[in-house]
Amino acid sequence: MHKTQLDIAKTNVQEKGFLDISAPPDRLLVEEIYKLKKEKNAVILAHYYQEDSIQDIADFVGDSLALAQEAAKTEAAIIVFAGVHFMAETAKILNPTKKVLLPDLKAGCSLADSCPPVDFKKFVAMHPDHKVVTYINCSAAIKALSDIVCTSSNASKIVNSFPKSQKLIFAPDKNLGEYINEQTGRNMVLWDGACMVHEAFSIDKLIDVHLRNPDALIVAHPESPKHILKVATYIGSTSGLLNYVKESKKQKFIVATEAGILHKMQQQVPHKILIPAPAKEDNTCACSECHYMKLNSLKKLYLCLKHETPAIEVAEELRKKALLPITRMLELS
Ligand code: 13P
Ligand code: SF4
Repeated sequence: MHKTQLDIAKTNVQEKGFLDISAPPDRLLVEEIYKLKKEKNAVILAHYYQEDSIQDIADFVGDSLALAQEAAKTEAAIIVFAGVHFMAETAKILNPTKKVLLPDLKAGCSLADSCPPVDFKKFVAMHPDHKVVTYINCSAAIKALSDIVCTSSNASKIVNSFPKSQKLIFAPDKNLGEYINEQTGRNMVLWDGACMVHEAFSIDKLIDVHLRNPDALIVAHPESPKHILKVATYIGSTSGLLNYVKESKKQKFIVATEAGILHKMQQQVPHKILIPAPAKEDNTCACSECHYMKLNSLKKLYLCLKHETPAIEVAEELRKKALLPITRMLELS
């Protein structure tokens, strides 16, 4: 006889005297999350790098820009942000009266961490005649020191909104900054920060994979270092990569970004072959995974929705300062 998750849980109680009472088993978790979402008028926003089960249950899955746009227009009372801290914080900055929940408060970002506000303030002070463009992957304190925010899908457009004569600082991602300098013909001063996931791609291993798959196109996220971008046929944000792979007539792709994107990508192109770009260090999946993004789980999502914690808080004075550059970006996007 086929055993349901509930049967297994009951057997555990009877035979082992064990039951995790903090959350139901996975299948029931999904049902419970749907129930709670309705009861509480909550919306689940998820980034493409979240685990598959979270993407599948989310009301909206997108890249950083689309998620910020969705957060700006949602009418839900509660936003469960299945992503990392700076994303949930951006949603809170846009929605001070709503509850914004992050399933795991430790879901940070190596790129955001690479730009401490005290040091960045000094850096900005050293370049008095420069305007400050910051990638959305940074803290509210960094946003508050910025003239405008951008994401990987609108960075060129945002930079081009300034006259050519305007000197610019770009932070915190040096790889994206270098790429945008090339795209726009600028010479922006770059903060020396990077994403550990994209930095981890191995060019040697990537070339080996391509030699074994000469019919595959390499597509890459612009947070990747220059040597990876140099061999890519297409460079774009997560949604850019998704659309490119969907629209292309080619059948095989090596994808250089966090491996979570492959879930939605494969759903959209079920007959195409997708190969994750290899990371330097061999890990279990031999690809690049963001351990911050993967801190969120379906169980944590359920618990945070049920207990309405952990919630993101941003001090009002800081929120107002950080809101300005985000609003400027949204108006231009
Ligand atoms: P996008 O969602 O803008 O492609 O950025 C990817 C990323 O690193 C988010 O942390
Ligand atoms: Fe940050 Fe990189 Fe993880 Fe994105 S993938 S959240 S930039 S560490």
